Amino acid sequence: MIKISPSVLSLDFTNFDKQMEEINKHADWIHFDVMDGHFVPNLSYGPKILEDIKKASDLFCDVHIMVSNPREVATWFMDAGADLITFHIEAVEDLTEAESIIKMIKERDTQVGISVKPNTSIKEIEPLLNQVDLVLVMSVEPGFGGQSFMVDMLDKVRDLKDLRLSNNYKYVIEIDGGINGDTGPLAKDAGCDILVAGSYVFGGNIEEKINSLR
Ligand code: DX5
Ligand code: ZN
Repeated sequence: MIKISPSVLSLDFTNFDKQMEEINKHADWIHFDVMDGHFVPNLSYGPKILEDIKKASDLFCDVHIMVSNPREVATWFMDAGADLITFHIEAVEDLTEAESIIKMIKERDTQVGISVKPNTSIKEIEPLLNQVDLVLVMSVEPGFGGQSFMVDMLDKVRDLKDLRLSNNYKYVIEIDGGINGDTGPLAKDAGCDILVAGSYVFGGNIEEKINSLR
């Protein structure tokens, strides 16, 4: 069964209670985008906002960190209650650093994910696939909501699905960026287990939009 993880980057904070009520009723996870204005050309929010979101929801918190210092930032958001931390392979020096961050997150009983930007090949993360709980395929250049879906990224989803099957890996496949009523079914058919959706879900009737992705 596909999971829907709405990205609160597009939540209307002036209508917080109403929108959170809808998310709590209809979504499976909450996607929380952390941007540092360095790894990506945008700033989002800190651990305090995650703490408040967790007061308003029991949903699984899927924290996507787009930052240049993932080790420190991961710690702050684990302290704030993240259930899963996904960091970018492009933000670390090498596989050794990636493996030690994965180990650190797991030792805090938190799930861990690794993400690849559109121009990064799955080959870069293949040595890590037996260690992570989730792989996040970016279907837009990270940094902003409301961008168009890059359909070529579905090849990565298919490759990850094949690698998982042939190696009996345990990760789930999540896609993020430009998911809507047309691109969501394509991503599902390619093999995604979780769909992140921001502007599409928060830009209309939340219940209808989430159901249209299932
Ligand atoms: C972009 C973020 C996404 C974004 C998705 O860098 O990682 O999670 O909020 O927003 P939409 O669904 O509007 O593309
Ligand atoms: Zn995201």
